[in-house]
Amino acid sequence: MRIDIITVLPELLVSPFSASIMKRAQDKGLAEIHVHDLRDFGKGRYRHVDDYPYGGTSGMVIMCEPLDKMISKLKDERTYDEIIYLTPDGETLNQTIANDLSLKGNLMMICGHYKGIDQRIRDMYVTREISIGDYVLSGGEFGAIILADSIIRLLPGVIGDETSALSDSFQDDLLAPPIYTRPAEYKGLKVPDVLLSGNFPKIEEWLHEQAIERTKERRPDLLEKRSK
Ligand code: ADE
Repeated sequence: MRIDIITVLPELLVSPFSASIMKRAQDKGLAEIHVHDLRDFGKGRYRHVDDYPYGGTSGMVIMCEPLDKMISKLKDERTYDEIIYLTPDGETLNQTIANDLSLKGNLMMICGHYKGIDQRIRDMYVTREISIGDYVLSGGEFGAIILADSIIRLLPGVIGDETSALSDSFQDDLLAPPIYTRPAEYKGLKVPDVLLSGNFPKIEEWLHEQAIERTKERRPDLLEKRSK
């Protein structure tokens, strides 16, 4: 998979892609991340990419021209399965969207900044608009990082234990059950006996019950979704 990210703040995207699973995915050749500085297509000496909004509202808007040039250049080089704009008014990211995008080959992500990007770029190029939650961030960069992470960890071979991503919370609309590691007793708190029993069918059954219990308590809306 290849992900191209367009941003006015490329420095924000350096460390998240240089460590842990997202780094490993790139080192193994399973994911390629390319970060593009929109200011490369900015106007004038100060490489301007933004201007005042029409209509007299507050804030600044990323202009059409630099985005148009950057997107066209990338599109001339390859075909994109999705051109995603990170925005609080997009569809809210969930596991189904991450699963779906993990099956694609080339993704482009556009990070807005200030008040966002000119609507005409959304109309011309964007195929999908994604929000990472009902709150407003100062730009789309953290959204792109979160979206990329949620996708990349699903690519075959990225996570050592293949089944590990499949047993994540939300994969079957259930939250993950509690987990424990050694020691079996810590400050008087014991690991549930069943997990030490070696009886794997029983352990599976217990884990499933715990997942249902936890989901019932914390996210009953997910259980309603399952029964539909
Ligand atoms: N940009 C600003 N806020 C955002 C959000 N909640 N999700 C995605 N991109 C954003």
